[in-house]
Amino acid sequence: MCGIIGCTGRDDAVDVVLEGLATLEYRGYDSAGMAIVSGTQAAPELRVVKRAGKLASLRHAVEGQSLPGRSGIGHTRWATHGAPTDRNSHPHVSGDGSLAVVHNGIIENHEALRAELQAAGVELASETDTELVAHLVAAERDILSAGDGAAPTTDGSRLAEALRRAVRRLEGQYALAVLDVGEPETIVAARYGAPLILGHDDGVSWLASDIAGLIAHTRDVEVLLDRQLAVLTPGGIAVSDLDGQESEGVRYKVDWDVDAAEKQGYPHFMLKEIYEQPQALTDTLLGRLGEDGTLALDEQRFADGELRRIDKVYVVACGTSYHAGMVGRYAIEHWARLGVEVEIASEFRYRDPILNPHTLVIAISQSGETTDTIAAAAHARDQRAPVLAVTNVVGSTLARQADGVLHTRAGPEIGVAATKTFLTQVVAADVLALFLAQERRTLLPEEIADAFARLEALGPLLEQVLAHDERIAELAHRLAGADYFMFIARHAGLPIALEGALKLKEISYLHAEGFPAGEMKHGPIALIDDGGPVIAIATRSHVRSKLLSNLAEVRARGAVVVALATEGDPEIAAAADHVIALPDVHELLAPILAVVPLQLLAYHVAVALDRDVDQPRNLAKTVTVE
Ligand code: M6R
Repeated sequence: MCGIIGCTGRDDAVDVVLEGLATLEYRGYDSAGMAIVSGTQAAPELRVVKRAGKLASLRHAVEGQSLPGRSGIGHTRWATHGAPTDRNSHPHVSGDGSLAVVHNGIIENHEALRAELQAAGVELASETDTELVAHLVAAERDILSAGDGAAPTTDGSRLAEALRRAVRRLEGQYALAVLDVGEPETIVAARYGAPLILGHDDGVSWLASDIAGLIAHTRDVEVLLDRQLAVLTPGGIAVSDLDGQESEGVRYKVDWDVDAAEKQGYPHFMLKEIYEQPQALTDTLLGRLGEDGTLALDEQRFADGELRRIDKVYVVACGTSYHAGMVGRYAIEHWARLGVEVEIASEFRYRDPILNPHTLVIAISQSGETTDTIAAAAHARDQRAPVLAVTNVVGSTLARQADGVLHTRAGPEIGVAATKTFLTQVVAADVLALFLAQERRTLLPEEIADAFARLEALGPLLEQVLAHDERIAELAHRLAGADYFMFIARHAGLPIALEGALKLKEISYLHAEGFPAGEMKHGPIALIDDGGPVIAIATRSHVRSKLLSNLAEVRARGAVVVALATEGDPEIAAAADHVIALPDVHELLAPILAVVPLQLLAYHVAVALDRDVDQPRNLAKTVTVE
C-alpha cells in the first residue's frame, strides 16, 4: 500500500529513484512522484514532479527535464485520502516549497491537524493527510532554526529533530521520508506501523518500503523499527529513537538476488511465479526435518512446554492467506488433534474471542506487514495467547512480534495476485500441523516422517500439473466470455474453490464465487443458467461421491462443468464437460496441486480479456492500512 524510496549520494539520484519506484510499483499504482534536491551547492532548490496514473506517466513527465541532484525521494501511491490526481500525488511540500514528504500509511487525526493548520493560516494544496505532515515538519524546522534552546541531538540534524517533534503529534501509521533544501544531502525517515528498510554501501544510502526497492544496490539491510528515526547521508545512516537517543534497527542479509525480482522472459510476473511453485515448495521444506527426525520452527521464543499445553488454535489472516489458513485447519485438526477456528483478521481484531495462554494464534501473511493481521496478532498477545507467524518476509513486523516463526521460502512475489506465496503457506501450514503433532505426540515420529516425505514428493507432481497449461489456456479463452463463474468443492478442497474465485475476480474483474458444494441447493444453485461455468474441485477424497451428486445437480440445470479430478476417475469424467486430471495424492495434500490449474485459469482468462495481470485495478500488494 504505497511504496516509498529514497537515495542520497548518487549523482544520478533521479534515475535511482525512478528505478526504485519501478520495483515498488506493485505496492500501489494510482500515481507516482519524486522530489530531487537540485540547483547549485550555494543555492539548492527542491524540484518536485508528480503525476496521476502509473509510473509511466511520471517517467514521461521527467523525460526531457534536467533534474541533476544527489538526493531524492519518490512515492508510488495507492490512494486513501483524496482521489488519485496530480494534486494529491506525493511528494507533498511545505508552503514555501523547501521541504518535501512522502508517506505510506494513514494519519488518523488528520481532521484535527487540518483544522489547526488552517486556523493558523496554512493554505493546503491537496486533500491528503500527508500534506499536513509536510507543514508540521516545516513549522518545527522553522521554530528550531529560530533557536529555541533545544539540546543538539545525537544525529546532529535539525530536520531529524523537526520530524521527531512532528511525529509525536501524529496518530495512525506512517513510514515517512523527508527531504529539505536546508540539508541538501540528508534524507530523514521515521516509521510507525508501516515498513521501512535502510541500506548503505560505498558512499550511498538508500531507503525503501521493502527489499525489492533496495536489492539492486545492497543485500545488507537494516529494518527500521516502530518509533525510530533514521538520518541518511552519503556517509552513512544514523538511527535514533523518538528521544533522540542512538538506536539500531534489525540488520540482516537478504538471501535472494536481483534476478529473482525480474520477469526472466515470462510475459508477466504472475505466470513466472506460478511456474516457480515446484522450486518454492522444495525450498520451503528444505532442511525442516532434522537428522534426528524432528521438525523445528525457524524462530522459536515459546516458553518450555508452552506448545504442549495448547488446547485450541485460531488462525488469523486476510485474503489469500486466509484461504491458506483454511487449508491448514484440516491438517491441524487431523494430525495434531486440536480444534481450529480460522478468522478474517479484520474481524477477529474487533471481536472479543476467548483467548488465554493455552490458545495458539497462528497469523499468516506473506508480507508480514498487513495491518489487520498484525493487529489481530497483537489482540491475541494482549490476552497472553502465544502467537506463531507464517510469513515470507524475514524481519517483517509480524515475524518480529511473534513468539515463533515459520518462514515460507517463496522468494519475492511481485504479481499482486498471490500464487507461490499461497502454495508455500499451505505447505508451511502442513509442516506446522506436523510440528504440533510432534509436540503433542499425536503422531509417531515415523508417521510424521511419512507425511513429510509425501509433501516433498509434491515437487515433481506440481511439474506434471503445470504441463496442463496449454489446455487450460484454451479452456480459458473459451470461458472468458462468461460473466459469472462458480467454484464448488467440499472438505479441504473448499478453500481452493474460494481461492480460485478470488484469483479470477482479482485479475479478470469477472464475478466469481466459491461455495461449499453441499450448500448449493440451499440457495446458490438458483444462479445457474444455461452455459454458466461451474469449476469443481473433485479430486479423490472421502467426500468425492457426495461431490459427484452435486455435479449432476448443476449440470442438470445447464452449467458447463469443469472438474479437477484425480487421474483415471471415469465417473467424474462422465459428470463433467471438461476434466483436468491431477496426480493421485493424500486428500489433505491435494489442495496443493489443485490450486495450480485455478491460478492458470485466472491468469489466462485475464490475458484473454486484456487485463493488467500483474497490477490489477484498485489493488496493491501489501495492505498497510485498515
Ligand atoms: O501479505 P498478506 O498475505 O497478509 O496479504 C493478504 C492479502 O492482502 C492478500 O492475500 C491478497 O488477498 C492478495 N492480493 C491475493 O491475491
